[in-house]
Amino acid sequence: MPSDPKAWFAHDRFGMFIHWGLYTLHADAEWHWSYNEVDREEYFRFLDYFDPDLYDPRQWARMAREAGMTHMTLTTKHHDGFCLWPSQNSEFTVARTPHGRDLIGPFVEACRAEGLKVGLYYSLIDWHHRDFAIDIFHPLRNIEDPEGYNAGCDVARYQAFMKAQVRELLENYGRIDHLFMDFSYPDQIYRGLPGKGRDYWDSANLIALVRELQPDIIVNNRLDLTDVVADFYTPECFIPNARPTRNGEPVLFEAAFNTNEAWQHKRTGTQPKSPHQLLQTLIDMVAMGGNLLMNVGPTARGEIDAENTAALRAYADWFARHERAIRGCGYSEFEAPFGCRLTQNGKRLYIHLYSWPYKHLYVKGLGGKVAYAQLLDDGSEIIWLPPGRQVRGEGEGLRGLDPVALPGDLLILELPVAKPDAVIPVIELFLKD
Ligand code: GLC
Repeated sequence: MPSDPKAWFAHDRFGMFIHWGLYTLHADAEWHWSYNEVDREEYFRFLDYFDPDLYDPRQWARMAREAGMTHMTLTTKHHDGFCLWPSQNSEFTVARTPHGRDLIGPFVEACRAEGLKVGLYYSLIDWHHRDFAIDIFHPLRNIEDPEGYNAGCDVARYQAFMKAQVRELLENYGRIDHLFMDFSYPDQIYRGLPGKGRDYWDSANLIALVRELQPDIIVNNRLDLTDVVADFYTPECFIPNARPTRNGEPVLFEAAFNTNEAWQHKRTGTQPKSPHQLLQTLIDMVAMGGNLLMNVGPTARGEIDAENTAALRAYADWFARHERAIRGCGYSEFEAPFGCRLTQNGKRLYIHLYSWPYKHLYVKGLGGKVAYAQLLDDGSEIIWLPPGRQVRGEGEGLRGLDPVALPGDLLILELPVAKPDAVIPVIELFLKD
């Protein structure tokens, strides 16, 4: 492992995101309070019933590790403002629930016990806070006199509150490796009410505080600090169609995805991704030089539900044999064959076959450059045709057709007819020095 304290991030490539909070009791959307413009009292009623008696973060951490993930990032506080730790700066915390105890401490300990890096998510938005002005996403956005309400909001007090909370999170739990701040929307205006960005959050000072408290932490890009390079960028639920760059330079990114089109545990109506899609999402990101932060939403009682468990199992099964096609790998300058993605780690090039071709795989630009090839699943040798030899250039069936011209640098791998028993098989090429 490289000695740069942040190098683990670009090396490991795969983490677990966890959305869990008071909204989990509603079992539909973490934005429930806002989407449904729920009355404050009605939402706060969940405080009396939040009691995750089956909470076992060690089990979460084991599942993450087995799935191939090396960090876990938990929502310490989502947009509703509810804190999973007994924050001294808020009255809207786990301390007021039947559970009554800190949930972050055990989470951090579990990560460390399983050898995982520790990640915290912190919402910049806080709908419960009286000093947080009404805007486009606020549950009170449609009240009669939002300006009147906002006149009572003290932004300086809100900024001090955020800093005090960030200080609690980054001072009380030892080393924190990964911080996900969420999110900015400076240009979104509603009924004349401005959005929020770096001025509202006092982002420059907030990030300075973060770096002072945790010098080796990596922080995402959602603070609206567009003039500085963030440690990592966070495309959300979409596959970039080109390698993400900034001023022409590739950036570190970690795409946030979920297993079933929901961030929090959802009781019904999810759209679970197939094992193939789950793996494809990960491979696509690494092939673009990025990471994947795959989300699960534990239940209100604290368990990772059956659907998410199955998704993690799909990763675990594949990872058991294909870890080295992900870990330490990144973007390859070579062109991926049709229906494939490439990841590369130095002289090892990995071809991920999203669909299994019939007998031959054509890889441009690699003719004469490969010393050895094998199927990663079982370490069986893959042979290739001698340079210049055509697969289908001759024979009765082609009589009368134009001859096919194959470029000299084309590598033609000869594959078994039957697809190997892996959701996405991988061929490992050892490149010549
Ligand atoms: C968005 C959503 C949020 C989710 C997050 C994950 O910003 O507001 O609910 O937590 O993305 O990336």
